[in-house]
Amino acid sequence: MSILDKINQLKKERNAVILAHYYVRDEVQEIADYVGDSFYLSKIATQIQAETIVFCGVSFMGESAKILNPEKTVIMPDMEADCPMAHMADIDKINAAREKYEDLAVVCYINSTALLKTYSDVCVTSSNALKIVKALPNQHIYFIPDENLGRYVASKVPDKHFIFNDGYCHVHKSITAKNIQIVKDIHPKAEILVHPECTMDVIAMADYVGSTSGIIHYVTESRAKEFIVCTEMGVRYELQLKKPKKLFLDAGQCYCSGMKLVTLEKVAEALEQMKNVVELEEEVRIQARKPLKRMLELG
Ligand code: 13P
Ligand code: SF4
Repeated sequence: MSILDKINQLKKERNAVILAHYYVRDEVQEIADYVGDSFYLSKIATQIQAETIVFCGVSFMGESAKILNPEKTVIMPDMEADCPMAHMADIDKINAAREKYEDLAVVCYINSTALLKTYSDVCVTSSNALKIVKALPNQHIYFIPDENLGRYVASKVPDKHFIFNDGYCHVHKSITAKNIQIVKDIHPKAEILVHPECTMDVIAMADYVGSTSGIIHYVTESRAKEFIVCTEMGVRYELQLKKPKKLFLDAGQCYCSGMKLVTLEKVAEALEQMKNVVELEEEVRIQARKPLKRMLELG
């Protein structure tokens, strides 16, 4: 039996659906029932009827699906698939900021551990951060863990005071303005599409800044034929499916090793053995649910 037949059979036996982020391997995106950005996947996770969710992504994604669906079994093809940035915030610093500013909102990028979410007022993703921060009544915003996304949002919301945290995504940080310029010099008509986890000098060069879904949508609407895509390379699979005649260029190897740990074999094995089940302490799950629910309401 082929691996695809095996996964399809196991999906039926386990009453499972497969969710995948745009950064996982092409063949994993191909077998998924739902593929999308972090916001779409967290919304979809609340609408699923099946008993089991196989989350093809990194740990914070599986955790968020479990937080929002405590009655469902959420399994990860590889428990080691993690996002380093999700751990890059300090609880003592959050508490200190809360003491300093009475009117503080701790805004937590969804790329964060469940524990960090429990210390936060609202979660955001790259596709809704601007909208949510603008909608908050608070004047002081402590943005965790991603400094770059925080700075990008702050640049668009000048009337609020931001406190930044020094977390970052090493994958997006590796994209440099210098390398983009080299590609742009060769392809002067190419539009520059940038994920807001990139640094501000890269963002400043962009024709479009947005989440992975935002980038895909932009390409489908744009009249341009060439694009320099400044985000993880996995997004190309969907871009090429949607616009096979357009040219997608990169400005260096942009590769998330955590996302690439997810393989078809691991999907089949996890489903077969019902292993790598996401478990959270009940207290953590209940507290982390609040900022995620608020995001779903505001976003
Ligand atoms: P999206 O919000 O576009 O899904 O991005 C998630 C992510 O991990 C980016 O590195
Ligand atoms: Fe985390 Fe960066 Fe990978 Fe996104 S691309 S999951 S932010 S390490």
